Amino acid sequence: MHPLPFPAGKPDAYIRLRGEPPFNPARHLALQKPARALSLQDLGYDKKTIAQSPSPVAITEPFRIFSEEGLAVARDVAAQMKSNRNEAAGTGKNRLGSYIRGAGYRSQFIRDFCECPQLLDFLSAIVAAPLASHTVPAVACGINYAPEDVSRAVDTWHVDSVSFDAVILLTDPATFRGGEFQYFRGTKEEGESLLGARAEEGAGGELPQERVISAVFPAAGYGFLQQGNMVFHRACRLLQRAERTTMIPSFVALDAARDKTNVRAMSRWNDPGILCELARHEAWIARERLRKLTEDIPLSASPAQIAEAAEDAVAGLHNFAGELRRKG
Ligand SMILES: [Fe+2]
Repeated sequence: MHPLPFPAGKPDAYIRLRGEPPFNPARHLALQKPARALSLQDLGYDKKTIAQSPSPVAITEPFRIFSEEGLAVARDVAAQMKSNRNEAAGTGKNRLGSYIRGAGYRSQFIRDFCECPQLLDFLSAIVAAPLASHTVPAVACGINYAPEDVSRAVDTWHVDSVSFDAVILLTDPATFRGGEFQYFRGTKEEGESLLGARAEEGAGGELPQERVISAVFPAAGYGFLQQGNMVFHRACRLLQRAERTTMIPSFVALDAARDKTNVRAMSRWNDPGILCELARHEAWIARERLRKLTEDIPLSASPAQIAEAAEDAVAGLHNFAGELRRKG
């Protein structure tokens, strides 16, 4: 059960695809567990930070996600949406060269893939934390295309604004040179001080070579899962012009109190409908926290403890409303 269904309707700029095959997990998935993963501890995070995180897992090695048939449909859907990508349609620009956000508004196949219980159970088991498709449709599923200008990185060093995301390669890795996905064996605070930039905003420049790991994708249809807000990562530039397409579904931790979605960073995006999407996300967090409050608060709680629990439960929604007021 998805914790927060997509809103009714869609932003006008997004064109809904027609004639897609229905998503069928038995035909379109070929899930194979990753053999290895790095933990937050491996990256150098301290015990307290790890205890506050929804999972101890930082990033897995690439593992098989799509079957050949699923890959063919995903590639076709990504190719069809390319003319409606966010950059081209004037629906928002950020550090990414060429991308789609809110793919689930355009493609039912992608929406159903991202919300597939079989996929979510599988990914939840890997990180030992219950996950759901992201409650903010803009990031529930994205597509990254290679920029037309090969001198540009596909994406510079950054951390993501979500708790978890998978990066699935849709292009055969034998068909392009460069374009490696790399991550930093270190904390985001270390990365920030080495690059002299805020992790959410992204930065060019280099991190120490001996601590940079390149993910190895055996084939198209493979992807890895990461705690995206904790892992400094980038997609390098291509060495020559080529297709390089990735699909990036994102996920929330169902334990809403531990979910690390960075609403503040995302409120600066200009995707259509994003502010309403973020308000709905904060309302979901508040609802989950209020439910927990009704279950957990002891009758012996002091007035100060009750007030604190009530204020904590709705703080995110309250703060977001304040930010909207300041925007005017
Ligand atoms: Fe990222």
